[in-house]
Amino acid sequence: MTAEPVKVLEVRGLTKEFPGVKALQGVDFDVVEGEVHCLLGPNGSGKSTLIKCVSGAYEPSGGEILSAAIRCRSASRRRRSSSG
Ligand SMILES: Nc1ncnc2c1ncn2[C@@H]1O[C@H](COP(=O)(O)OP(=O)(O)OP(=O)(O)O)[C@@H](O)[C@H]1O
Ligand SMILES: [Mg+2]
Repeated sequence: MTAEPVKVLEVRGLTKEFPGVKALQGVDFDVVEGEVHCLLGPNGSGKSTLIKCVSGAYEPSGGEILSAAIRCRSASRRRRSSSG
């Protein structure tokens, strides 16, 4: 019997808009414990914006980020920090 994979990060429908620019539109992905991901894309495709949203440096315009099943956008800074 194999153990159920543990999701450590879930991103659903993430959007980030700057004035006149839709930097992220509906980004969905999961990270399962132990996985290593690589983020690739051309200049201006939104890589830095995505990481800044996931790390909490930017407030997303829409969507959901769950870290260890904690809703990051509504969680306190301390709760986000303790969840990694
Ligand atoms: N602080 C900001 N204010 C306004 N527009 C921004 C801001 N940051 C990024 N953008 C715009 O959002 C889009 C995505 O930019 P981002 O820097 O996330 O792309 P990137 O994939 O990291 O690019 P690069 O490969 O050049 O690092 C671009 O159109 C960029 O001009
Ligand atoms: Mg960048």
